[in-house]
Formats: sequence, C-alpha cells, structure tokens
Amino acid sequence: MIAKHETIEQRRLELQTALDSAKSQADRNKLGQFATPTGLATDILRLARSLLPKGCPVRFLDPAIGTGAFYSALLQCFPESRIKWAKGYEIDPHYAQPARGLWEDTPLALILGDFTATSPPVREKDRATLVVCNPPYVRHHHLNAGEKQRLRSASIDAAGVDLNGLTGLYCHFVALSHAWMAKDALAIWLIPSEFMDVNYGRAIKEYLLNHVTLLRIHRFDPAELQFDDALVSSAVVVFRNAEPPDGHLVEFTYGASLTGPAQTRIVPRRDLRPDAKWTRLAHALENHADENGWLKLSHLFTVKRGIATGANDFFVLAESRAEELDLPRRFLRPILPSPRLLRTDGIEADAKGWPLIEHRLLLLDCRLPEDKVRQEYPRLWSYLQTGRVRGIHERYLCAHRQPWYSQEDREPAPILCTYMGRSVENKSAFRFILNRSKAIAANVYLMLYPKPVLASILRDRPDVLEVVWAALNEIPWDALLGVGRVYGGGLHKMEPKELAEAPADTLLAALPEAAAHRGKQLTLTW
Ligand SMILES: C[S@@+](CC[C@H](N)C(=O)[O-])C[C@H]1O[C@@H](n2cnc3c(N)ncnc32)[C@H](O)[C@@H]1O
Repeated sequence: MIAKHETIEQRRLELQTALDSAKSQADRNKLGQFATPTGLATDILRLARSLLPKGCPVRFLDPAIGTGAFYSALLQCFPESRIKWAKGYEIDPHYAQPARGLWEDTPLALILGDFTATSPPVREKDRATLVVCNPPYVRHHHLNAGEKQRLRSASIDAAGVDLNGLTGLYCHFVALSHAWMAKDALAIWLIPSEFMDVNYGRAIKEYLLNHVTLLRIHRFDPAELQFDDALVSSAVVVFRNAEPPDGHLVEFTYGASLTGPAQTRIVPRRDLRPDAKWTRLAHALENHADENGWLKLSHLFTVKRGIATGANDFFVLAESRAEELDLPRRFLRPILPSPRLLRTDGIEADAKGWPLIEHRLLLLDCRLPEDKVRQEYPRLWSYLQTGRVRGIHERYLCAHRQPWYSQEDREPAPILCTYMGRSVENKSAFRFILNRSKAIAANVYLMLYPKPVLASILRDRPDVLEVVWAALNEIPWDALLGVGRVYGGGLHKMEPKELAEAPADTLLAALPEAAAHRGKQLTLTW
C-alpha cells in the first residue's frame, strides 16, 4: 500500500513540475497556482487523522485541488475503506485534465469548474466531514468589481461573513466552504497568515471565533518559506464546524514544522478579539517559562523602575504647595508619595483619575520651550528660575533633557511594587500596590505594565486586575527575596530584571483557564 502510494505521489510530483513549467509565473500568479509540498500535505493529513473522531467516515473536499497534493496525502493517511467519497474542484483545465487521468482509478471526483460559483449541497450526507485546502492566493486587485460583489454576497449566504472589497480570494474560499461542511466537520486551511493582522481579516477572525470552533493556528517561520516560488508567510488554520464550548482554549503554534512546533501558546477563546493582531500570538516567544515550567512575572508584565525626576524636591510638590505657587494644572500630573507615606495598598481614584490618598503629590512636567513659558506662564517661569538658581538645570538628568524641566513620558501602571524594604518576622519586604488612579510613580517603586495578552484579558474583564493583585501578594516572601538582593541590616532591594524573574505560579492558580493547562505546556502563556 505504502509502495503503491509512493509511486503515485512520485507520478503526481512529476506531473506538477511539468504542468508548472509549461505556464508563465504571471499566469500562475493570476490563479494562485502554487502547489503544496508533499511533506507539508502529509503533515496536514496526519493532523486531520488525529483530530477526526475514531470511526468518523471521511467525506473529503478540496475546493482548489490542483493536481491533488492533499488527496494524495489522504490516500496515504486513511484506509480506503474509511473514505466514503472525495471531491475536488479545479478551475484550470491545464491542471484538472491531467489530474483526472492520474486519479482515474481512485474514488476522487475531480470537477472542472469554479468552486466559488457552485451551489453547496443541500443534504447533510452530501456535505464533507473533512475539508482540506490550499486556496488560490489571489489579491483583491486581480478581482473585478462584479466578481467582488458576487463573492461578497455568496460569502454572506454561505457563512454569514461579510468580506469587504479588499479581501483576498482565499478568505472567500474559507467562507464559501462553510456551506459544504457537515456538522462537526473538520477544516484545515493552508492560507497566508496576513488575515491575522490586516483589516480585511477581521471578518474571518470573527467567523473563526464565533461561528465555528477554532482549534489551532500554526504560523510558519517566515524565514522558512513553504513555497519555493511564492513569497508568502503561511499559516495552517484548523477548526471544527461546531459551536465553541464554554471555556474553549485555542492553540497557537509557531515554527518551521507543523508537527513539532518550536513554540506553543494556549489562549482562551474569550480573550481573542477579531480586531486584534493575531500574529503576535503565533510568534517566536521570549523565554516563557524556565526549564521547570515555572511561569515568571516577565511572561505577564513588563517591569520598569518608576521615573527618575532628577530632583524630587523641586519637581514633586504637595498639592497645596502647587496651589500656593499657582502653577498651571496642565503641567502637573499626580505622582505617588513614597511607600512609607502610602497608607493603603489599594489606591482608588476620583472622577478625574486622581488618587484618593493622603499626601497628594504632583509632578511638574512641562514640554514648552523657555521663551513660551516666559511669555505665557509667568508664575511657572518664576518657579523655574528658582530651580536655575539652585543649579537644578545643570544636574545630570536635567541637563540631558530638552527642556530641562520636562519629564519622561510614562503611563500610569495598574500594579506597582515597592523597590526596597526590610523584611520583618518573615513578612515580605516588598508590597504590591493596586493603582486604579492615573498617578505615576518615582523610582522608589517598580511599575508593572501588563503585556498584551494580559492587557486584553483586563480590557474584557477589568475585575481580573484585583485577582491578579491578590495573587501577586501571595507570592511567597522567600521567593521574592530569592530574586532580589540583600544589603546590610536586612535591607532588600529589587531591580526590574530581578522582579521579572520572580515566580508567578500564584497567578496561574488565580486564573483557572491557564491553570488547567499548566502541567501540559511548558511554554504556556495566555
Ligand atoms: C494554491 S493552489 C493549490 C493546489 C493544490 N490543492 C495543492 O495544494 O497543491 C490553488 C489551486 O486552485 C485553483 N483555483 C483557482 N481559482 C479557483 C476557483 N475559483 N475554483 C477552483 N479552483 C481554483 C488554481 O488553479 C490552483 O490549482
């Protein structure tokens, strides 16, 4: 059986080479004629075999079959007895006719015609249980206005997906095939990864999230092109024609090989948004867990020291002092007092986002040039002169800023950690602070900025922030001390890089969707 298959695949490859070389590159571009390499076709059909329920009869459809790379792999991976029927569409007789000859002794029905113009089956048993396709990658520029309109309404009819006029033909293939899929059918698409990031891909992402159950997206390393003759970064998209179950998790993988991806990332479906860019999810990851599978804070947060003003006693003023000096509000932003003076670990905010705390402090931060300040803001100007008299403008940090009284442009962080402290009776030297205000912080704090995946969870479910904060405070004190440094008298200090190394498994426990997969995936993030 294997030997028989190898012979026919060999013949198919020879045919493919002969047919490709008989056409010009420009003609092949027009119809998106780039064949799938044998190895990849086999990997894809093996994946199909592992995902189709045991005993499920195979009714196979390839809507853009060419010479039949996937059909050939189907015959290799599935026993003939399991294949109930197999159908392929091919628009170009140049490929369709010889391919028909090649497969004439097999169950394949190869139809010469335009798949996008065919009527989908009406009866469930005429629908496919397995759709595998490398559709033509034809950019919208090659489709005329009439074709675009026809494809648009056909895609709406087939899948309820409204694909705009900038959409590549391959997206219409995905949408149109929906009407060919039996309930619970599996689809595997080899398509350009472009849809994950561009505007027109939004509708397809919406479809993948809400109309079907998205199982996996594998993105190939763009340096390892899948097609020798087309400069396309490709992805394999796998989904089932079923409603996504509650708590469904999607697998994003990345690397040169579909079967042994270099990176895996599990993302809860509800955290995926159609308008977000998805390639970053199926991307080369930074080191996402240490070799023990521990999750580290750096997987969830970017940690930065608070800002260095260069002269806190000049740039940071009590609210009352700023009022006394009548400094313009537009050049003042709230900044937290030192942890010693911060009586709460949970900072609430007023309607303007200013922190509701004692010791309200303001940071002076103005970017206007001196002559403008002199003309328009005389009170600020006289205050700045007192700084000049003290030589503050010549201090290292100030002298390197333009103008010297401007500050680093920094967003407030929702979580802060104290930068140093003493451990008393086995209590942590460090405090995590929840900051619901717009206050930024000076360098007596470390500022924790959520990385994109956590940020998107927080956008959808802001209440998770509190859970994350509580979980941070549960990181064992000795684990934190382990990553920081100790100075004389039990004084501990922690640099941003050190905090980033801290174990974050308490956060996994706080977010069950991530915890469920922790044991399985060393490279887990969400
Ligand atoms: C990217 S190739 C893939 C061929 C083959 N399935 C493989 O994987 O090697 C796309 C194929 O779709 C065909 N095609 C283009 N437009 C089509 C259409 N509207 N209907 C059916 N086939 C089409 C092209 O001629 C080409 O053979």
